[in-house]
Amino acid sequence: MIGPPNICYTPNILHSGESLVNGAVLFTRDTVDIACAQDMFDKAFNTIGRTKMIGRLNHVAIAVPDLEAACAQYRGALGATVGEPQDEPDHGVTVVFIELPNTKIEFLYPLGDDSPIKGFLEKNPSGGIHHICYEVEDILAAREKLQSEGARVLGTGEPKIGAHGKPVLFLHPKDFNGCLIELEQV
Ligand code: CO
Repeated sequence: MIGPPNICYTPNILHSGESLVNGAVLFTRDTVDIACAQDMFDKAFNTIGRTKMIGRLNHVAIAVPDLEAACAQYRGALGATVGEPQDEPDHGVTVVFIELPNTKIEFLYPLGDDSPIKGFLEKNPSGGIHHICYEVEDILAAREKLQSEGARVLGTGEPKIGAHGKPVLFLHPKDFNGCLIELEQV
């Protein structure tokens, strides 16, 4: 994979991130915002046709045996902003999102008899981390790349619409150090 860009500071004759010279991203002296610089870097990647893979950590999902108790604990003891329960029949779960400054926690509680969370809670009666979710820009491109690297996509292999109304896929935990990974296109 490609490393960090060469960031050069030039006189103010170019707009920030405007030019690519020998693969270097040029930023003008007035580029002070690192988020802006990162955005320019991302755009530069797209410009030269490379696929960017995982982005931000979108959420960590925790399977919980008692949804109300878990919400009350996060709201009370941890002082977190806890959302309302949402039923996701396609995924066999009820979810609650907790907003943190840098990411989210997703509580998962079984919905229906064949919920995928049921077996997990039987093995982990007090609950446990169920999956982590990484953001990707293009879920089909990400799937293609991962499958070409030998990773297995769970289910039909086709993206489903997740709890945020965006396409998601799950990757086999045995291919990722025992960790179930969700990819969400943002
Ligand atoms: Co999730």
